[in-house]
Amino acid sequence: MVHKGKDESGEKVVYVGDSRVRKGSGFITPPDYTAYPGKSEAFIPNFLLKEWMVGVVVLVGILVLTISEPAPLGFPADARATVIPIPDWYFLFLYQYLKLPYASGDYIVLGTLGVTGVAFGALLLAPFLDTGRERRFYKRPIASSLMLLSLAAIVYLTNTAWTEYKHEMAETGQIPEDVQREEKAAENRAKGLPTTSAVQTEDIAIVDKDDPAMALFKQATCVTCHAVDLKGGGGPSLRGVGDTHDQAAILAIIKEGQGQMPPMYETALGAGLTDQDIDSLAAWLAKQKSEQ
Ligand code: HEC
Repeated sequence: MVHKGKDESGEKVVYVGDSRVRKGSGFITPPDYTAYPGKSEAFIPNFLLKEWMVGVVVLVGILVLTISEPAPLGFPADARATVIPIPDWYFLFLYQYLKLPYASGDYIVLGTLGVTGVAFGALLLAPFLDTGRERRFYKRPIASSLMLLSLAAIVYLTNTAWTEYKHEMAETGQIPEDVQREEKAAENRAKGLPTTSAVQTEDIAIVDKDDPAMALFKQATCVTCHAVDLKGGGGPSLRGVGDTHDQAAILAIIKEGQGQMPPMYETALGAGLTDQDIDSLAAWLAKQKSEQ
């Protein structure tokens, strides 16, 4: 719409559309807003420059925060645990959608390319398909009902995914591994122990560093898997192993092995240790407690 009028200075002005924007004489010429201080400004360069500066300040702020407050590390995930893999909550609806009979199995191409292709293609083409001037949502029945339908589908699928997941967990008697880790961390927090493995292996000191058993530990080649500093490598960290194992239990592990660890008794004897040496090695390891 084109209005005609006069501004405060009495100058004749022609407005286009937005009543604050004067009709320009050329395409690039930035409109002159000097008659309306504080009301508006040219997008290029004034507004854009301000946006960029705010953007830079926010970005630097986020960088400073991430450097000063690094994301906390939890206990490492246990690769041996049986888990039902599940995406983060905002992708649950897609996860559930791909379980639908006509989006999986023989119809996987339809599910992954067909339906999503139509949906995203329509979104891309929306500016060309929906050219009406109307902005009120209740006057745009097709666009609005498509949006409401997608929202309803997302809510429904997310809810179904979560319900099914919980049902499956309960049925197989599983506690999600991340919940277990969180529980363990909470337990440690209550006891004042570290809640991350990184800190844990660092903070627990080696008890009786000068004990001759330290040399036996190397001689018996335990160090190949548990490292000279006991922090572990191929095997777990043995710092604080006395918290959970007594001398007899450790002796049994040396003799019979455990999980991925082979029996080490013969190896230790072969490396020149005596039965007594192995006993004192186990006794020394049993003394490795996180708190004294
Ligand atoms: C070939 C690598 C390897 C060698 C050598 C080795 N270990 Fe292990 N050790 C492991 C692995 C892997 C585990 C974890 C076993 C499991 O529970 O699955 C383990 C576990 C242990 C545990 C139990 C830790 C816990 O928290 O459950 C003790 C104690 C232990 N080792 C002591 C020793 C001693 C003492 C020696 C030397 C005589 C030794 N290990 C040599 C690989 C090794």
